[in-house]
Amino acid sequence: MPTTRPHQIAPETFLIPNLAPGGPGAYVPVNSLVIRGREPVIVDTGAPVHRELWLEKVFSVVEPEDVRWIFLSHDDGDHTGGLLEALERCPNATLVTNFFLVERLGLEVDLPLHRIRAVDHGEQLDVGDRTLHLFRPPIFDGPTTRGLYDPTTAAMWIVDSFASMVTDEDGLHDATTVPADLYEETFRAFNSMVSPWHAWLDPAVYRRHVDEVEAMGVLTVASAHGGVHTGAAIAGAFERVRALAGAPITPDPGQPGLDELLAASLVAPAPAG
Ligand SMILES: [Fe+2]
Ligand SMILES: [Fe+2]
Repeated sequence: MPTTRPHQIAPETFLIPNLAPGGPGAYVPVNSLVIRGREPVIVDTGAPVHRELWLEKVFSVVEPEDVRWIFLSHDDGDHTGGLLEALERCPNATLVTNFFLVERLGLEVDLPLHRIRAVDHGEQLDVGDRTLHLFRPPIFDGPTTRGLYDPTTAAMWIVDSFASMVTDEDGLHDATTVPADLYEETFRAFNSMVSPWHAWLDPAVYRRHVDEVEAMGVLTVASAHGGVHTGAAIAGAFERVRALAGAPITPDPGQPGLDELLAASLVAPAPAG
């Protein structure tokens, strides 16, 4: 597994990357973000399998006692992996969720209700030197999902949207360096598989929602499961997402996919003697 490090993607805005295996030479990013403004914000808390690495990376860019906000985009496990540890190590942090997220995640973990602030899509969060805008991303796999837009840097956390595999750390930093065929195939598959409802969308209605997100005027887009998009790549990714409306669902890889995973995980026995 290639080593990954925190990477600045916009002023005082750091991608916290980790990778999961995605087949020979390919990896699935499991990212989060830190916005190190006057009131530092941790944006999502990674996956349980990366917990120790995640904590190490996050606290290499921000001191735990300086963290004022822990923003959870939604309650999926790959976004809540380091949550309890982060709450414990950041005593001055308030957890930013919405009501339904508390209801859902409260079935799995003991949430400190007195440290929670509910902020939903369409609302804003004042973090001292900037006001973060919460919005519903174009692609999402959980009903509680809210993305973040920072107007001071024009950087966006688009959560599970814009996912695709990468082959190395460069692909995490810049999605345009991912081999075109891998990007094309996995962007389509990932964005379809997490939001299979796209097949029933009216393209004209969906376009209005995607247009609204794009119209925020974003310069840098960070995805939880893909490389960072900048420049022309942003418009291209929004267009790929629009094209999913009414299009067929990417089928689940099924048993052959599982068999492939199993074969890749089998370790050859050590030679006798
Ligand atoms: Fe998710
Ligand atoms: Fe996710």
